Amino acid sequence: MRLRGGAGRRRAASVAVGERGSPAAPPAAVPYNAPSMSGFVRGVGGGWACDGVPLAAVAAEVGTPVYVYSAAVIRERVRRFRAGFEPWPHAVHYALKANSNLAVVEVVRAAGGLVDANSGGEIEVALRAGFAPGDIVFTGVGKTPAEIDRAVELGVKAINAESAGELERIAGAARRRGTTARVALRVNPDIAADSHPHISTGLSRHKFGVAIGDARAIVREASGRAGLRFTGLHIHVGSQMLGLGPLRRAAASVVDLARELAGDGVKLEHLDLGGGLGIAYDEAGGEQPPPVGDYAAVLVEAVRPTGLTLLVEPGRAIVGPAGVLLASVVDVKPRADGTWFVVLDAGMSELMRPALYGAYHRIALVEEREADPVTCDVVGPICESSDVFGVERRLPLPAVGEPIAVFDAGAYGSAMASNYNRHPLPAEVMVDASAWRVVRRRQTMDEQLAGEVAAPRGSAPREPAR
Ligand SMILES: Cc1ncc(COP(=O)(O)O)c(C=O)c1O
Repeated sequence: MRLRGGAGRRRAASVAVGERGSPAAPPAAVPYNAPSMSGFVRGVGGGWACDGVPLAAVAAEVGTPVYVYSAAVIRERVRRFRAGFEPWPHAVHYALKANSNLAVVEVVRAAGGLVDANSGGEIEVALRAGFAPGDIVFTGVGKTPAEIDRAVELGVKAINAESAGELERIAGAARRRGTTARVALRVNPDIAADSHPHISTGLSRHKFGVAIGDARAIVREASGRAGLRFTGLHIHVGSQMLGLGPLRRAAASVVDLARELAGDGVKLEHLDLGGGLGIAYDEAGGEQPPPVGDYAAVLVEAVRPTGLTLLVEPGRAIVGPAGVLLASVVDVKPRADGTWFVVLDAGMSELMRPALYGAYHRIALVEEREADPVTCDVVGPICESSDVFGVERRLPLPAVGEPIAVFDAGAYGSAMASNYNRHPLPAEVMVDASAWRVVRRRQTMDEQLAGEVAAPRGSAPREPAR
């Protein structure tokens, strides 16, 4: 297989899927990011490992860029969510948009999580991972007729409708199939998430849901319509939230609406309060998400007076800290001011968050060592000036070819990867109980080009090359 030029792609990337024993692991010494709880630790020799598997070994064997996930961390985080909500009837619907790698989704299922799908594609992934239609809530601001029809055909637990028009289209699809679709209405409570503007979704200027002031009339009207069974209300005000205030206010507003609807004779089954719990990306401790138990207690308290089942849709808080992106250094360039550019073989095509939101990710040499650090910008190879993973980072100057770890990349990392600059979609590895396997091999050039054909042959003569 031909690889994109550069020493950084350490090895041919198309590694057969298969179980491998782990090389001897250095003893776990320094847990990083304690608030988030993670299976990635630095051994006494300085090398980072995931649940006993040295990351350097994975990078050497599979090549880079590669995502590495800890199954144990995913399981533990699902368990914490379930335990947090335990005192109240609830379901934890993992938001597939954060990471829908089949192996990741299977681990979530085995841990007792259900799913929130945001597209027809994510519904199919959920089914292939072994979920039943009744385990799936279907969200999405722009559902196509085919997606609606598929969700109706399957009989998912709830289609979270985004508008009065969409409710009508769902009812139409259900009537054509001679069935009744279970629906919830996504409500926009006009509440600021106090998060990054691009991942805030609950203000009236955002495209999501119907204005809370319009919701009562819409539900009353739609709940009498043939083809619809109205089961709930849905909100999601934003992502990477570090305070509970916005969630408390959003929950209160939807609880008020549920009470009004109960007074109107509309019998709901659940309130779906979305996802949004943040994680600690920042090693300096600037970002301190509330513990899952506190988060759950706030939501349960809000919902209690209604007696309704509580659904939540966490994504990032389940898989974010469970993944790292490993990349290799392809160049180190000195700058006039004494700082450096460290250029990696992975960039915004593999991990878009820094370019998209200016997001911060911790970065370390996979084999950390005692050496005077230099100040460097850690950048990707993509032809965009926004393709920067970290600015003014302090690292020992890495050698070309050396692996680098970008932490907390399990959510919205591989899920947002693209073929920009014709990068192949990266490989993904899962570690479980000190064994690991490639759970998605790196895309080949043939796979990337499989759907493309030659240009049509017009009658225009071919221009001579200049
Ligand atoms: C409707 C909905 N539910 C759940 C989520 C998951 O959010 P998070 O990953 O912040 O938990 C999102 C994220 O955008 C969303 O839009």
